[in-house]
Formats: sequence, C-alpha cells, structure tokens
Amino acid sequence: TTNASWGGRFTEATDAFVARFTASVDFDRRMYRQDILGSIAHAKMLCKVGVLTEQERDDILRGLEEVRIEIERGEFEWSVALEDVHMNIEAALTKKIGITGKKLHTGRSRNDQVATDIRLYLRDEIDSISAELTRLQQGLIELAEKEADTIMPGFTHLQTAQPVTFGHHLLAWNSMLERDYSRLQDCRARMNQLPLGAAALAGTTYPIDRHYTAELLGFDAPTENSLDSVSDRDFAIEFTSAGALIMMHLSRFSEELVLWASAQFRFIDLPDRFCTGSSIMPQKKNPDVPELVRGKTGRVYGHLMSLLTLMKSQPLAYNKDNQEDKEPLFDAADTLRDSLRAFADMAPNLIARKDDMREAAMRGFSTATDLADYVVRKGIPFRDAHEIVGKAVAYGLNTGKDLSEMSLEELQQFSTEITADVFEVLTLEGSVAARNHIGGTAPDQVRAAALRAKDLIATR
Ligand code: ARG
Repeated sequence: TTNASWGGRFTEATDAFVARFTASVDFDRRMYRQDILGSIAHAKMLCKVGVLTEQERDDILRGLEEVRIEIERGEFEWSVALEDVHMNIEAALTKKIGITGKKLHTGRSRNDQVATDIRLYLRDEIDSISAELTRLQQGLIELAEKEADTIMPGFTHLQTAQPVTFGHHLLAWNSMLERDYSRLQDCRARMNQLPLGAAALAGTTYPIDRHYTAELLGFDAPTENSLDSVSDRDFAIEFTSAGALIMMHLSRFSEELVLWASAQFRFIDLPDRFCTGSSIMPQKKNPDVPELVRGKTGRVYGHLMSLLTLMKSQPLAYNKDNQEDKEPLFDAADTLRDSLRAFADMAPNLIARKDDMREAAMRGFSTATDLADYVVRKGIPFRDAHEIVGKAVAYGLNTGKDLSEMSLEELQQFSTEITADVFEVLTLEGSVAARNHIGGTAPDQVRAAALRAKDLIATR
C-alpha cells in the first residue's frame, strides 16, 4: 500500500529501504511536546477564524492530550512507515478521534510545522542551558569573593608573568560566560518568531490569524516572509555558533584545571567525586570531567560546520536536506547542557592550594615589573629601568634568590636610586594591591567586580 499521508498520486509503495532512509522519526520524536503544542495552537486558531467548529477543536485538543500522555508513559508506538514525529502524532490522533483528526492539517504544511517545532524546542533548550550557565557563573563569583586575596602567578606564554589574585582569575572566566549568556539571549530574541502560516512555502488560502497563533505559542510576532519561514535555519547556526564559543571557553577553563591539578602545578584539588582512578596505577586521580569537556568541544565545532554546510547551497524554499539539521542541533544542545552542568557542579568546589600558589608566585621573578615601575618613579626612564631589573634578575638566577630575598645592598648594585622602601613593592601582596583600578587584580577591585557581576545576574 502507498503512504496514507501523501500516497494518493503514487502507483507503487515506497521501497522499504527508502522508507527507512528518509524517515526521521527515530530522532525527531524528541520534539513531540513542541509538535503537540504547535498543533493545539493551530487548532485553536482554526476554530477562532471559523475553519473548525468548537466541537472539532475540543476533540482535537482532547485527542492530542491523550497522545501526549501515551508518549510520556512510553506506550506510544512510533512507526517508521509514518516517517516523522508530525505524521506519527497526526495518525494517532485520527485513530483516536476519527475523521476530525484529518482536519488538523488544514492550512498547514509539515514545512512550517517543523520550522515551528524546532524553534519551540530550541527556545526551551536555550532556557535550560542559560540556567546552567547562570549557575556556573554564580559558583565562580562566590568562589572569587572567597579567594579575592589569594595570590597566584599570572602567566603569559605559560611563563610566570606577574602575581594576580585567584579571585581575579576566576572572574576572568565569569566575564567570558557573561558574554556567552548574552549571545544566547540575542539568538533567542531573533529566533522567537512564528513560522506557522507559511504552509508549504507560499502561505495559505484560509483566513488564518497568525498573530493569534504567535501569541498562543509565546512568539513575539509572526515571521515576515513565508518563503524565508520554511527555509530559514540560520537560527540553528547562530545557536550552535554561540554554543561553539561556550565550549571554547569551557575547553580553555578545562585545560587550566587539568594543568593546575597536576603534581607539577599543585594549584588546586578537585574533589574526588569529580575524578576517577586508574585500573592499573593505584595512585592516580584523574581530572576526567574537564578532560571530557575539552574533548566534547570538538563535537560542537563539528556540528556548527555541519549546519553551515547543510545550508550553503539550498535553493529556496524547503528542501529535504533540512531534515539533517536536527541531529547536530540536538547533540549540540545536549553537549552544552551537560558540560555546563558538570562545570556548575564542580567549579564552586575547587579547592585552592593557597600555599602552593603563593610559592609558585615567588618563583619566576613575578614582581620584576613592579621593581621597574619603582625605579621609574625614582626618575629613571622605563627602558633603562627595564635593563636595571633585567640585570637584577640575572643576579637572582645565579644566586637562587627572588628579588624580595635580596638585601638592599645587593639591589643597590643595579641602581643607587633603590632605597629601603623598595621592599613594599617587591612583596606579592604589594604587587597585586597596587593594581587598584577597575579591571585590575587588587583584592578590593576583585570584591567590587564580584558585586557588579552579581548585580548583573540579578537582572536576568
Ligand atoms: N521530517 C521533515 C524535516 O525534518 C519534516 C518536513 C517534511 N516536509 C516535506 N515536505 N517532506 O524536515
């Protein structure tokens, strides 16, 4: 037999392999809730404009509710022969309520239906991903406040550069996540328009009220152009692109955690519950969570490239190619939500090994720039000051002494401008406290920045 939904013009049944090859139900069934919500709104709108009677509308609503419950109880029988989530649900509805079920698709096409479903689905995903992102930010900010005075070496080129506070470093991550959050919200706002009503591509002859449907589904407005409505997937690309940036940030974060948890750095301890052991080496405690997140970053980058490539040559309007949008999109959303969740759980529980951090900051002449700035304040041009301190560092390397461990006489070999007050700037505490301006690493600035970051989150 030919397909019940569109088989009228066919003289032979679909090849069994082709039916399987073209079906999407195995993966698009996860949008069942959104598909049903869209159908409910569509039926209400059709009734409002007089295309369905109130009785017909109520039968459809009741039938759809039963279908939803069946699906959620795991009692629904998904059929590959019915191709996708849309036709599975419509067929089940008709089986339940009879001929009225066949009227639901009036003035609608699967093309505008699927475009609506994906937007609804992605909107929910953006909301739950944003919630995990917020939770991670809150954890980082809280830890930053606690570690506002904790000193660690800051790096450039992974070489010790200048001392910073651990709180300041944590807030750097928060700044990245703050931008990530706003990118997700931008994407959501642009995406939040109703495609339904575009029908197959040209619109429909029924007197539909798209504003009403949009309102029912929480969209800001109906889309402007029917051709664009059924073919646009740039919202999916935009989401995955924002997601790729989030993963890039989490991956850098991961890399630091992995390094810092090593015996070579010893800056942090990860709680045991976020780590795993080795089946052969009894001593091992491996930072699996950050490693896995770093690894999963590649998936999301890949999905972004898949979606860009999927869209690049499609003529208007809908093409079956678009069915390939779902798996990358779903996996990108899953990966983001899970990775953020893992980090939100883990980040506030990082244990700073303050003594080891401090000791590391003492090595590597991290206050050399402070000494140069000090000499400049005594009236020496910066380039000469740089040379003077470079020689002091060379002396320190030979004698195994940090700048702060040298005597005044030793320091005065390099410049007679150096006096006893130099030791205030050579301490790690003096160095960070001196960078006391907005965006600087001074503990007071970190505390103020944490407050601002919290205020920003409170407005969400
Ligand atoms: N499963 C299809 C998709 O995901 C639904 C739309 C099908 N439309 C069509 N004309 N074949 O895109």
